[in-house]
Amino acid sequence: MGFYSEDILSEIRSSADIVDVISQYVSLQKRGDNYVGLCPFHSEKTPSFHVSAEKQLFYCFGCGAGGNVFTFLMKKENINFPEAVRLLADRLNINLPPNEYERGTSREFRQRREQLRLNKMASEYYHNVLLNTRDGKRGLEYLKKRGITLETIERFRLGYAPPLWDGLIKHFQSMGVDANTLAKLGLAVAKKNASGFYDRFRDRIIFPIEDAAKNVVGFGGRIIGPGEPKYLNSPETPVFSKGENLYAISMIKKDPALDVIIVEGYMDCISLQQSGFTQTVATLGTALTPMQAKLLKNYTGGVILAYDTDSAGQAATMRGMEILAREGLNVRVLRLAEEKDPDEFIRKKGREAFERQLSEALYYIDYKLYLAKNDTDITAPEGKIKYIKKAVEVLCEIENKVEREVYLQKISSELNIPAQALKDEIIKKRFPDNGFKYKKSPTRDNNKEFSKISPITGAYKAERLIIKLFVENEAVREKIAENLTPSYFLNERTRKIAGALFEMLRSQKPIEPDEIFNHLDQDASSELSGIIMTNSEFREDGMIDSLVKKIKENYLKHAIKQVREQIQKAEAVGEREETIILLNTYQKLKSQMDELKANLNAEKGGV
Ligand code: CTP
Ligand code: MN
Repeated sequence: MGFYSEDILSEIRSSADIVDVISQYVSLQKRGDNYVGLCPFHSEKTPSFHVSAEKQLFYCFGCGAGGNVFTFLMKKENINFPEAVRLLADRLNINLPPNEYERGTSREFRQRREQLRLNKMASEYYHNVLLNTRDGKRGLEYLKKRGITLETIERFRLGYAPPLWDGLIKHFQSMGVDANTLAKLGLAVAKKNASGFYDRFRDRIIFPIEDAAKNVVGFGGRIIGPGEPKYLNSPETPVFSKGENLYAISMIKKDPALDVIIVEGYMDCISLQQSGFTQTVATLGTALTPMQAKLLKNYTGGVILAYDTDSAGQAATMRGMEILAREGLNVRVLRLAEEKDPDEFIRKKGREAFERQLSEALYYIDYKLYLAKNDTDITAPEGKIKYIKKAVEVLCEIENKVEREVYLQKISSELNIPAQALKDEIIKKRFPDNGFKYKKSPTRDNNKEFSKISPITGAYKAERLIIKLFVENEAVREKIAENLTPSYFLNERTRKIAGALFEMLRSQKPIEPDEIFNHLDQDASSELSGIIMTNSEFREDGMIDSLVKKIKENYLKHAIKQVREQIQKAEAVGEREETIILLNTYQKLKSQMDELKANLNAEKGGV
């Protein structure tokens, strides 16, 4: 390499423990002499990523990625060797001679490093204003009034933006940093009708936001008096993206056994942490994203949502739950009483009361059942029926049979309804009409079922072609709709399109592309655009018939295969009723297939 002296490299290597460095990215567990975790370089459910403290190496038995601490950073941060050296030196506070590091690092890398440095300086500036200036006094008083201690102010590096148009700009100017550079970080804003810039944050409490590696990436600012907006945040910048970060993520421990509490507000987070709930993070004024869920997955196996009690908070809880559960996190939901948020709760009722609330947090399924019950009066028959319907829907989501059974018994005794009745409803829902249950939303890139079938059988092509014919030829519409139902379409998107088209035909709506798109979601719309834009020849003679047959045959093939698998599963766990229903279905499907084949043969024979 030659950019760095061996001395410096070995100094860095010996001060950096690979386990510490990798722990910033991966939740590692000690196992024997090694540490293991889920590989950050490929997707896996059981850990095959090993780190050896003794050898200072990592290796993934799943995907074969491996190397030393520098290799890891290069791969993970997508940087080159000199950049990895620089990054590690920064984190360890080791000074590198400037011209040695300049060589070999990319412009982007240097820029990012500089931007993070400036953010850090801004954070210290605000912090100093809060603690040591007259302007900061108001902020200090406000925080004190809200029960925030000096120790907490230090821990979170809270700050204050002075009530000036150029406090921060002047501060940086004196160090040779121009306002344009600050504007790129969202710290300054260009004036609209004149040249020049002004401070974005003025007369506000400042909450510096750190990423997992403790870089200051952005800021939140709260107004003290009346005024709008209550909170002002950094905009998206090259180093800050709200959807990818969580407030206080750098302060929590990585431990699968410790649940992480997720709250909505900076103040909720700070307040809970101050009361001893140190595994608390906050979203940054936006809905929880899959990226944030993935980030949390590095830290824990379980989360507790403690959002505000207002309706916005409840809606955010529902969406958040689904996203977190989808990442495989164990989700619970905390219910506050009449207080509006965790901060208010803990200040009014104290630490023990919140502890109790935590221990009573409801698991995902229980919470959904709780909500279903909450808005119905189950003492009245209609209410009871309404609740059962919702409960059945919730129960259908549970894949694990034992778990489903537990909930089933619970609801059965709670409502005084025979478990069997609920079971029947669930089976009906889980195995609609003919028993064939579609797998969940296949997408174009990630649809094994569909990529397995389409090139071989061409059934997907047939589904697309018949939709094209339907849209373009009024003359064949009736015939297609008579011979097929949407459920024959195996691909989720073509199925949706067919559903919309057949419905439009039935209700005699004009079938024009513009109109159809109004009835489709995004995926289905792009699918339909593709179908319409693709050229294909249309031969009248028997084309519809053969397409219909191809689609039906393919559907039956899959349905039969899937029902067969379901029968095996049901038998294996001793699900008597399910087995019987499924066997019936299997027979029905089989004879449909036989019929279809017989027709095909008869036709072939006839030619
Ligand atoms: N938020 C925001 N912009 C706003 C209002 C809120 O970005 N105009 C974000 C902030 O991250 C805030 C969170 O949403 O922390 C929760 O908002 P809210 O419940 O209104 O604030 P509180 O947490 O109650 O703040 P406080 O207790 O200081 O009033
Ligand atoms: Mn609040």
